[in-house]
Amino acid sequence: PMKPINVVVTGAAGQIAYSLLYQLAAGTVFGPDQPINLHLLDIPVMMKVLEGVVMELEDLALPLLREIVPTADPAVAFKDVAAAFLVGAMPRKEGMERKDLLAANVEIFKVQGEALDKYARKDVKILVVGNPANTNALICSHYAPSIPKQNFSAMTRLDQNRAQAALAARLNVQVDQVKKVIIWGNHSSTQYPDAAHATVTLQGSTKSVPAALNQDNWLQTTFVETIQKRGAAVIAARKMSSAMSAAKAAGDHMRDWWMGTKPGEYVSMAVFSDGSYGIPQNIVFSFPVTIEPHGQYKIVQGLPISEFARSKLTVTANELEEERAEAYKVLQKK
Ligand code: NAI
Repeated sequence: PMKPINVVVTGAAGQIAYSLLYQLAAGTVFGPDQPINLHLLDIPVMMKVLEGVVMELEDLALPLLREIVPTADPAVAFKDVAAAFLVGAMPRKEGMERKDLLAANVEIFKVQGEALDKYARKDVKILVVGNPANTNALICSHYAPSIPKQNFSAMTRLDQNRAQAALAARLNVQVDQVKKVIIWGNHSSTQYPDAAHATVTLQGSTKSVPAALNQDNWLQTTFVETIQKRGAAVIAARKMSSAMSAAKAAGDHMRDWWMGTKPGEYVSMAVFSDGSYGIPQNIVFSFPVTIEPHGQYKIVQGLPISEFARSKLTVTANELEEERAEAYKVLQKK
């Protein structure tokens, strides 16, 4: 039998965690043979709520779930973890500027980076979900110098799943017939959802999505805008941000990182730029990647980038450089 691994979820009393924890306990992320100990981190005022979450986790009666450790102490939460879902963050409040949001979150991800550095396994895989996710991942890594940069990532899988679903609807096919749609850049409204390299299987034969759509300019216009604004549309309808779909995407991201991507397919993950596609280094940028089982991710190389795509990549890279500059300004003031 396999030994249990420690997995931490921050923001454990929040709404994304509420959907994510079930997936972890049920074995859909780390596999049906991998027992887990769940470390649940939230802030002191949420400990009562977290007690309720613990009760429900117990009541799932799932055999893979071993120890449950609710805590407000990062030293306890990050102890010997093999995987970390950093979901908890300061939410944007009415009237709050992007800058204020960044400042509040820089502090949180500094503390958690330091705790990862001190207490986590050195091969820990870290997924940042809390916004601004890309820059939070950058800060977190900065404060965890003993953990390789390649172990840090931020989530754009929800955007990828949204894009895949939108293309499937447009093409009138089942969602799994669409593959290789890419999210480039920041998990923000500057992201570039790119279907230029996507494929669709229609009546048993596979062709490129642009060809299947007869090159209509929907892909450059409505499609891009719909995906960029999907999060806001969910908030407008639900009065709360995406949670069920965000949690499912977090599970997808970590499962593919842990178990590997399917042959001939790639997925989008925000990771440290190594300069691929001319993107500046040392920002956390979403790229298409492939992953060997239990291996490192590799950024897919050699995809042709059109002039239109290049202009979109530049905009989102510029935004990430600005966020990085803001974040370091905040840190220097301390
Ligand atoms: P929520 O507000 O329901 O839960 C957040 C939880 O984090 C709360 O329980 C809060 O007490 C906790 N928290 C705050 N500071 C913390 C700290 N320092 N340590 C530990 N826990 C802390 O929010 P929800 O809906 O679960 O969303 C969480 C984050 O995920 C938000 O930042 C949201 O913007 C982001 N998000 C990211 C997506 C992506 O695609 N990357 C998609 C959807 C949401």
